[in-house]
Amino acid sequence: MAGVTDAPFRAAVRGFGTPLVYSEMVASAELLRDRRSAALRLNADRDEGSIAIQLAGREPAMLAEAARLAEGEGAFLIDINMGCPAKKVVGGQCGSALMREPELAAALVRAVVGAVSVPVTVKMRLGWDDDQRNAPELARRLEQEGATAFTVHGRTRAQFYDGVADWNFIGEVKAAVKVPVLANGDVRSISDAVQILKTSNADGVLVGRGAFGRPWIISQMQAAVRGSPVPDEPSDAVKWEVALTQYRGSLSHYGAELGRRVVRKHLGWYAEQISKDKLLRDRLVRASDPEPLLVALARGDVAAAA
Ligand SMILES: Cc1cc2nc3c(=O)[nH]c(=O)nc-3n(C[C@H](O)[C@H](O)[C@H](O)COP(=O)(O)O)c2cc1C
Repeated sequence: MAGVTDAPFRAAVRGFGTPLVYSEMVASAELLRDRRSAALRLNADRDEGSIAIQLAGREPAMLAEAARLAEGEGAFLIDINMGCPAKKVVGGQCGSALMREPELAAALVRAVVGAVSVPVTVKMRLGWDDDQRNAPELARRLEQEGATAFTVHGRTRAQFYDGVADWNFIGEVKAAVKVPVLANGDVRSISDAVQILKTSNADGVLVGRGAFGRPWIISQMQAAVRGSPVPDEPSDAVKWEVALTQYRGSLSHYGAELGRRVVRKHLGWYAEQISKDKLLRDRLVRASDPEPLLVALARGDVAAAA
């Protein structure tokens, strides 16, 4: 998720045993133009291990070149974004706009599959709007070009993030292709994760907003869908420790000034998830140096935090 799933947050999610994490979406043109800034967003933590890197673009040769670069950065999987609804992205005819151009979408997959040796997957929505729910046909077409899995967010582009995700329709994509389909949209609880798989018959679940401020939830969902014992909810002190580690990780990843700015919204999400205390949230988000407060919270020192 652009602006959210950076290396420090991915490290927090991985810390609970979640095996598959994705980079933020990176525009292929940006990656080719400014490798350093794009590399910072992709990975740059060399010890992170391999990640799935998501690229956006509409020029097959450029996307292929960017994919080659991303593979060199450690991507074990390249995901092509055909789902982003943002006006800035759609205006450039990328993201979900590609769902209206199946031949171009096919050319993009063909070019990237030909350029890299890692699997190439596609993220899409149900279609452009309710009159053009073409995800099943598009997925079938892209499967022929070598796409090895699909993630389907159960909304149309016209919906942006409104309404509710249609988990049933994701099942139509699942029925249309032989490769794995990962279901996505509105999975916020452990029971949602179980239910989206039942409803869509998909092969896996991807979680976005549900993990904001609670990176531990994905491993709990994972256990539930596998029928394994669900790990206990971490204590508040452990949760604050996770927030503190992400805070420190952001400072070392981006440098102190940018790191503090980038991690601020995450601290707000942690506060909302852990304490519900609006004052505490405000203190964390506004502090020029929230570290002492985070350290106190991670120690369980409620008095210091009050
Ligand atoms: C802030 C934000 C940034 C996002 N950035 C991306 C992105 O870069 N690539 C992508 O495929 N989806 C992106 N998404 C969409 C999510 O991956 C996901 O498909 C959508 O939010 C529905 O799933 P959820 O209900 O689990 O969040 C973004 C969503 C949000 C809220």
